Amino acid sequence: MELFAGMLAFLLWLQVQAVHGQSVQMDSSKSGFVGTQVELRCIFVNSNPPVKISQVTWQKLSNGTKQNVATANPTLGVSILSPFKERVGFKQAAALQRHQMEDTTIVFSNLQLSDEAAYICEYTTFPAGNRENMVNLTVFARPMTRMTLTSPTIVARGKKRNMTVATCTSANGKPPSTIKWSTLLKGEATLQETRNPNGTVTVRSSYVVVPSRETHKQKLTCIVTYRGERITDSVVLNVQYEPEVKIEGFDGNWYLNRQNVQLTCRADANPPVTIYQWKLLNGSLPSNVEIKNNTLFFKGPVTYDLAGTYVCVAINGIGTRTGVVDVNITEKPMPQGPPGGVIGILGGVVAIGLIIGVAVTVFMVHRRQQKTRTETDNDLTDLPPAHKPAPPPPKKKNSDMKGHLTSDDIQVVHLDKDEEMQKLPLQPPYYDMAPSESTPFTDKPNSGHKDCDVQYAELDTAALASSPSPRSSAHTGPGDLVEYATIQPSSH
Ligand SMILES: *[C@@H]1O[C@H](CO)[C@@H](O)[C@H](O)[C@H]1NC(C)=O
Ligand SMILES: *[C@@H]1O[C@H](CO)[C@@H](O)[C@H](O)[C@H]1NC(C)=O
Ligand SMILES: *[C@@H]1O[C@H](CO)[C@@H](O)[C@H](O)[C@H]1NC(C)=O
Ligand SMILES: *[C@@H]1O[C@H](CO)[C@@H](O)[C@H](O)[C@H]1NC(C)=O
Ligand SMILES: *[C@@H]1O[C@H](CO)[C@@H](O)[C@H](O)[C@H]1NC(C)=O
Ligand SMILES: *[C@@H]1O[C@H](CO)[C@@H](O)[C@H](O)[C@H]1NC(C)=O
Ligand SMILES: *[C@@H]1O[C@H](CO)[C@@H](O)[C@H](O)[C@H]1NC(C)=O
Repeated sequence: MELFAGMLAFLLWLQVQAVHGQSVQMDSSKSGFVGTQVELRCIFVNSNPPVKISQVTWQKLSNGTKQNVATANPTLGVSILSPFKERVGFKQAAALQRHQMEDTTIVFSNLQLSDEAAYICEYTTFPAGNRENMVNLTVFARPMTRMTLTSPTIVARGKKRNMTVATCTSANGKPPSTIKWSTLLKGEATLQETRNPNGTVTVRSSYVVVPSRETHKQKLTCIVTYRGERITDSVVLNVQYEPEVKIEGFDGNWYLNRQNVQLTCRADANPPVTIYQWKLLNGSLPSNVEIKNNTLFFKGPVTYDLAGTYVCVAINGIGTRTGVVDVNITEKPMPQGPPGGVIGILGGVVAIGLIIGVAVTVFMVHRRQQKTRTETDNDLTDLPPAHKPAPPPPKKKNSDMKGHLTSDDIQVVHLDKDEEMQKLPLQPPYYDMAPSESTPFTDKPNSGHKDCDVQYAELDTAALASSPSPRSSAHTGPGDLVEYATIQPSSH
């Protein structure tokens, strides 16, 4: 009987629940930034007949433990517990004073990361019992984002090595940012994430490139994305590099009595070249030269004395590099034009003559046969293809010395350039000699290296500068052995 009464009471209670369903209405989740204010809504939906609210309790559920935040009691009033006292209050404090307990929304001001938790709003009622609901509060922290260049100017040394040129940091963000880079630079980004004890994350990305002439003035953009918001920052690299030198002016056709020849040292450098020096590997510069800045003017007619290996030393704040050109003097002007020696040109002339002869003959014959035809039908382009220059006569592989040492410290680079010369007869040959610490010496001449456009070897310019000028100190003639440097192709 008692059991029956109990069950009846329970069913009655269930019915009250279902029909008059009192409920606690809350948002399922709320979020706010550190330092801002956020409302945690809690509304008791009363029913008819209304139940009696005896107490409302707010609790913080964090890490599995509950902590009281605030209570409201019709008889005892409201109380906010520490450590929330300073920053939490009931939104409808006045109504609560009047025992209107339906809205117990609380307001957090000056939100802190530690406020992130679930909050339970619990109504104790009679006779309905307890009703509660929960809201998840998420606290965001806006990161500090900045991009820094490793240094205002980056120095590209001769030795190529990876360097961090810029770093992009998004510090103490919650949730973490993502960092991307946008640039034409060939490089790599590193990414590092540091989780702070307070739940924020510092994301740092560095951009690594091998600084070089090519990376100078390149733009580097860092793109930070924080909660869908894009923050971009750009820098332009300022790379300092040693001079890249070439000598212009020798066209391979310096013949006796030619006038007004000159050699110009062209250097690309950052900062600009401050000093240009000219040397003749085989001795002192001819007496009739005049040096103006980076140009060597040869006054008067060309003589055999001008022949030799000319070296231009270009110095800027970063380093010293040299350009080299082998000047030889011919007795007669070299035939200009497409590749080929005298035979080729003669062959060409003969071929042109033949073609013209054939063309004229055909034309005349054609004319005679088809007098009524208009002249436009006679298209000379139908004739055999224009002359092809005969291949140049095979040139003797010039494995002889191009220059001679005036000091043991000078390394002479021998460059086999016959093939280039055939392909590019009008291109003045130049060689750029770059420092390369690891270059070993070898006495073997022409030690099997391949022909290269540009080859590098170390040149001790101090030794050059102090080299004695009299030519008598030098060896002469082709075939003399000098010291060779092993040539490393420039791609190293
Ligand atoms: C609130 O957070 C807890 C744990 O973080 C999770 O289990 C629960 O589903 C969340 N509730 C809502 C309504 O998002
Ligand atoms: C959460 O609880 C775990 C163990 O229960 C403890 O190691 C950790 O420090 C707690 N975290 C916070 C924020 O209280
Ligand atoms: C620079 O780093 C990249 C990627 O790690 C690597 O492929 C490259 O060889 C490195 N270059 C140098 C000169 O160290
Ligand atoms: C979180 O911690 C980091 C380092 O511990 C600190 O620099 C940052 O100011 C903190 N953020 C907040 C919002 O307290
Ligand atoms: C050398 O170059 C400087 C700057 O380029 C120029 O002002 C000066 O006139 C030049 N001197 C000669 C002799 O060409
Ligand atoms: C002179 O130099 C040119 C190109 O540097 C080369 O083709 C030619 O063979 C040289 N002539 C002599 C006589 O050394
Ligand atoms: C080197 O100098 C000597 C005179 O000292 C000269 O006879 C010789 O032709 C020079 N060699 C070259 C390649 O200029």
